[in-house]
Amino acid sequence: MKPTQKPANPNFSSGPCSKRPGYDISSLDIQSLGRSHRSSLGKNLLGRVCSETAEILGLPKGYRVGVVPASDTGAVEMALWSLLGPRKVQMFAWESFGEGWVSDVLKQLKLEGVETFTADYGQLPDMSKADPSADIVFTWNGTTSGVKVPTGDWIADDREGLTICDATSSVFAMEMPWEKLDVITFSWQKVLGGEGAHGMLILSPRAVERLESYTPSWPMPKIFRMTKGGKLIEGIFKGETINTPSMLCVADYLDALDWVKSVGGQQGTIARSEANLAVIEAFVAARDWISFLAADKAIRSNTSVCLTLSLDDEQVKKVVKLLDQEGVAYDIGAYRDAPAGLRIWCGATIDSNDLELLMPWIEWAYNEVR
Ligand SMILES: Cc1ncc(COP(=O)(O)O)c(C=O)c1O
Repeated sequence: MKPTQKPANPNFSSGPCSKRPGYDISSLDIQSLGRSHRSSLGKNLLGRVCSETAEILGLPKGYRVGVVPASDTGAVEMALWSLLGPRKVQMFAWESFGEGWVSDVLKQLKLEGVETFTADYGQLPDMSKADPSADIVFTWNGTTSGVKVPTGDWIADDREGLTICDATSSVFAMEMPWEKLDVITFSWQKVLGGEGAHGMLILSPRAVERLESYTPSWPMPKIFRMTKGGKLIEGIFKGETINTPSMLCVADYLDALDWVKSVGGQQGTIARSEANLAVIEAFVAARDWISFLAADKAIRSNTSVCLTLSLDDEQVKKVVKLLDQEGVAYDIGAYRDAPAGLRIWCGATIDSNDLELLMPWIEWAYNEVR
């Protein structure tokens, strides 16, 4: 039977992700538009982006939060290019984005002696191989495979190396052990449903120490430079961005942060995301034709939820198309490099009610195609 009720919001894309419930562009505070980002107004707003992010995430004292160019990719590249070199590097990757960082370190930075640990889609590499003396690069949540690291227990508290964590689809949706992370990066368009534009770069005091004591042998483009005369450019972490940001995106991000506060802060957004995953888990548990790519519940993402169907690749594409045509779910095909299937965003901006309504449509589309 074709369901009759449709999700109120069919935006289940994994990036840019759905806007928050009740989002209204006309309610953004746009007094900074057309003004200099270096005006006291502009700097104040950008400063709030940094300080409110730190406060809501509950970052440890001494951690710095900066707005940097080029979204999460920009933030990760800045960290890799600025920090890597003086120590052995270990890279852990289990899907497309993590593999991209491996490729950059091996083929662009051309670092030698790098240890790489990988796993197939749906699995996690052996994180216990982490060496406390090495710099470690990894992705907290693999957005294209729906596999996350369950904890940071594998990271030594007394490590000598730095941990560089791409956290774009986990920040605000998963508990993260900040003290174990020296570099954390994310972008605005994921869990917060903000606008894609700028990257967020969070540095521990140890990461800053490295920046101030090590100069890479390779040239550093202006948009990657975080030090001047061997000292951290502190302004970057107070709202004095390296280059011009979009103040409209800034207004949108501050609106998203206000929403996070209104739902109970980070604990509220984590709970919303976990409740969303629970809807899909209940649906999958009662059916034998649909499964999680991450079979192990402990490593299963509660944001980018990846599913496989007992259909061939062409049939899966038809399911995705049917759901799109019916206006019940947009952009939920698996990532291009991942096994064919569905990827349904379950971050905090998604309403669990909408997921409840989507599930029968998936069953209907599966039966239509089969
Ligand atoms: C884990 C991960 N890393 C990096 C990126 C790239 O992020 P951006 O487009 O914000 O640079 C994404 C985007 O989906 C991602 O999911």
